[in-house]
Formats: sequence, C-alpha cells, structure tokens
Amino acid sequence: MALSIRSIVKLNNGVEMPLFGLGVWQIPAGAATHRAVTTALQTGYRLIDTAKFYGNEADVGVAVRESGVPRDEVFLTTKLWNNDHGFDAALKAFEASRKRLGFPTVDLYLIHWPVPEERKETWRAMERILKEGSVRAIGVSNYTIPHLEELLASSGVVPAVNQVELSPFLAQKPLIEFCRRHGIAVEAYSPLTKGHRLGDKRLKAVAQKYGKSVPQVLIRWGLQHGIIEIPKSAKPDHIRENAAVFDFEIRPEEMLGLDSLSEDLHVAWDPTGEP
Ligand SMILES: NC(=O)c1ccc[n+]([C@@H]2O[C@H](COP(=O)([O-])OP(=O)(O)OC[C@H]3O[C@@H](n4cnc5c(N)ncnc54)[C@H](OP(=O)(O)O)[C@@H]3O)[C@@H](O)[C@H]2O)c1
Repeated sequence: MALSIRSIVKLNNGVEMPLFGLGVWQIPAGAATHRAVTTALQTGYRLIDTAKFYGNEADVGVAVRESGVPRDEVFLTTKLWNNDHGFDAALKAFEASRKRLGFPTVDLYLIHWPVPEERKETWRAMERILKEGSVRAIGVSNYTIPHLEELLASSGVVPAVNQVELSPFLAQKPLIEFCRRHGIAVEAYSPLTKGHRLGDKRLKAVAQKYGKSVPQVLIRWGLQHGIIEIPKSAKPDHIRENAAVFDFEIRPEEMLGLDSLSEDLHVAWDPTGEP
C-alpha cells in the first residue's frame, strides 16, 4: 500500500506506531515547543518524540492537550536519561516524565543511552512499567548489536524499538538486519544529518528530479526502507515541508544510489565504543 502520513508500523507487541513524526530535541521549552507541536499536529503528524533530556516534555503535553486531537490518536515517546539508571531510579524517572507530559499513559518509553553496568537493571524497571500498563511499549536508543545481544540474553521482553542515528550517510545495514531478525522496529534520529549534508550534490540531483527538497528526499528514503522517521524542526514552514513526502516515490535505482552514500557519518552521538 502507498505510504501516507497515517502509515503505521506494527510493533512486536501489536501496538501501532506512526512511521512518521516530529522530533523536538533542541527546541526550547515554552512557546517554541508549543508552536512546533501544534503546527505538526495541525499538519497531520501523529508521533512526537521527546525526552527528559530535551527539557520540553511539559510543553509537548500541553500542546497535545490543546490541539483538540484525541489523545489516543497521538503517539508520544519519551526517554529515560543517563542519570536515572537503576531499578528504583528508573521507576521514579518514568513517573516524573509521565507527570510532566500530563497523561496517564505514555506510548513508548526508551532507554536513551546504553549506560554500562546499570542498563540491565533499568530494563527490569522498564518491564515492570510495561506490565503495569503505564506505557504501551518499551524500547532502547543508541543500542548497537552487542548491547542488544546482551539485553536479549538477559530478558524475555524484546525491545519494541531501537532509535538510532540513521541516514544515507550512516545506513546501519547490519544493525537494521539484526533488529528485523529479532522483531525490533528501527527508528531514525538525525535523519536530516542535523543539516550537515543538505548541500550534498548527489542528494540535490535526486531532489531536483522529483521537484522536492533535499530534506524531503532524506525522509522519503528512510520511509521507503520501512524506517520510522522523526525529523526535527522548530520552523512551521519546515515542519510542513517535511511532511510533504507522500506524493512521490524514489525509484529503486535512485534508492540504491542513496544507499551507496554511507560513510559512517555520525552527527549526534556514536555509541560504538560504549562497553
Ligand atoms: N535518541 C537519541 O539519542 C537522539 C539523538 C538525536 C536526535 N534524536 C531525535 O531525533 C530527532 C531528529 O534529529 P535531530 O534533531 O538530531 O536532527 P535532524 O532532524 O537530522 O535535523 C534537524 C536540523 O535540520 C533543520 N531542518 C529541519 N527541516 C528542514 C528543512 N525542511 N529545510 C532545512 N532545514 C531543516 C532543523 O532546523 P530548523 O529547526 O531551523 O528547521 C535542524 O537544524 C530529534 O529532534 C530527537 O527527537 C534522538
């Protein structure tokens, strides 16, 4: 079926997650976040990705409540920060995030970073939160294959999602294959390379061919690979532009060309060396 702004991914516990959404890292708390989330919801976005670390969970919650979009039509993700690891600390951190968002249920709760030593205990807390029904799905972020292997060996609950940096310049093929084999949905962060590659000539050529912008090509590339895409923008025009990716399709030969751009470019964090 053709992709649309309403396309979903069925997670490994049956929960449906939108394939496309808004990331709100580095959007200042207050009016800027409120405006971005409001614009996104008006445009048709139904997935918002925040985190305790971003400092704007409360504004995301207010904007969702004031949008008039029913709560059960919006998919909210937040994340556990690095100083909240450990069983009790994780339970507490979740409660605090839930309070700041201002909803009884969070759709997806992620471990933001695979902090050594403590992450296994944290995962036990995530399992507890899931069992209690305060969250619809749990997952991880910045987990490499060894981190996932460790988790799978020590827990019966497979993460629903692994959110990692992913773009044509960091294609993460082995990680994607591993996740698919184990039923873990892959979500791309920094899908626009935080702006670093928007001037790339090869991308510009593809964009020109379809009468689209480079950000639109980057987002569409990920969506066509079945990857959940959460481009960030604080600007209403960009938020709308980034959603206008459902009226064209990149041809297979051009997809292959984009696949070949991978050069291990990390523009956010690189968890490769994390023990
Ligand atoms: N789990 C993690 O560790 C992790 C790490 C990084 C990011 N994330 C998540 O992923 C989301 C996206 O990643 P990101 O914020 O790192 O970067 P990104 O989405 O790759 O890029 C954002 C940058 O692109 C610009 N931009 C957006 N749309 C544009 C357009 N149409 N034309 C030109 N410029 C455009 C934005 O500027 P304007 O705001 O001015 O439009 C901003 O500077 C984050 O917000 C966050 O939710 C998670």
